[in-house]
Amino acid sequence: MMDIVEAVETRRSVRRFLDRPVDRGVLEEALRHALRAPSGGNLQPWWLHVVAGEDLRRLQDAVRMQAMSGVFAEEIEYDIYPPKLASPYRDRRFELGEAMYAQIGIPREDKAGRQRWFMRNFECFGAPILLLCTVDRSMGKPQWSDLGMVLQTLMLLLRGQGIDSCAQECWALYPQTIDRFLNLPPELMLFTGMSIGYADPADPLNQLRSARAPLEEVVEFRGL
Ligand SMILES: Cc1cc2nc3c(=O)[nH]c(=O)nc-3n(C[C@H](O)[C@H](O)[C@H](O)COP(=O)(O)O)c2cc1C
Repeated sequence: MMDIVEAVETRRSVRRFLDRPVDRGVLEEALRHALRAPSGGNLQPWWLHVVAGEDLRRLQDAVRMQAMSGVFAEEIEYDIYPPKLASPYRDRRFELGEAMYAQIGIPREDKAGRQRWFMRNFECFGAPILLLCTVDRSMGKPQWSDLGMVLQTLMLLLRGQGIDSCAQECWALYPQTIDRFLNLPPELMLFTGMSIGYADPADPLNQLRSARAPLEEVVEFRGL
């Protein structure tokens, strides 16, 4: 059994998966435990949709068709980032992007190359499972933060089983396609996707360890 610290430290966003299926029983068990995640007032505001096999291919095809007809974003339902991302957040995002593209050798000038690579998000980077997380539109910021609780809990539990993941808000660029695909009731909207599978250990991109601000920068102690 992997301990908590090891699960936290070995979790990373994997962007190349092996062509290896994930056992439904293992995934179900991880999900069952993840549902123990806390939420304000125990609202449990998450709705999770597991998509795989033919269904996943159908969704991927639908997004590909949109992209091929020049639609790189539908009518989005929330801003993935604040419209004016200021420092230090902007710098962190920039740093991650540069580290990622350096790892795969696509320079900043190669906009088309970067865009092509970005679109691999919608192939789930080769993962066999896509988890979609939806939320009731009436929920506010506190409940959206609860979604993070369940998703991180799941990612850590998956690590415990040697399974990797990549959370993917990029799916929120195609909310109408997702809506149609999941046949969502009008009150639900997509928050994020998450690819789930086994990392390809040979891929240099999977060696990327993203930076973090040091504790001294983001943690304040008072009276301790
Ligand atoms: C809610 C959420 C959405 C994300 N969306 C994407 C995405 O669309 N595509 C992607 O490649 N990575 C995505 N990421 C991964 C982040 O870039 C990553 O978590 C961050 O850079 C830290 O790196 P790490 O996960 O490897 O520790 C997302 C992460 C979170 C938590």
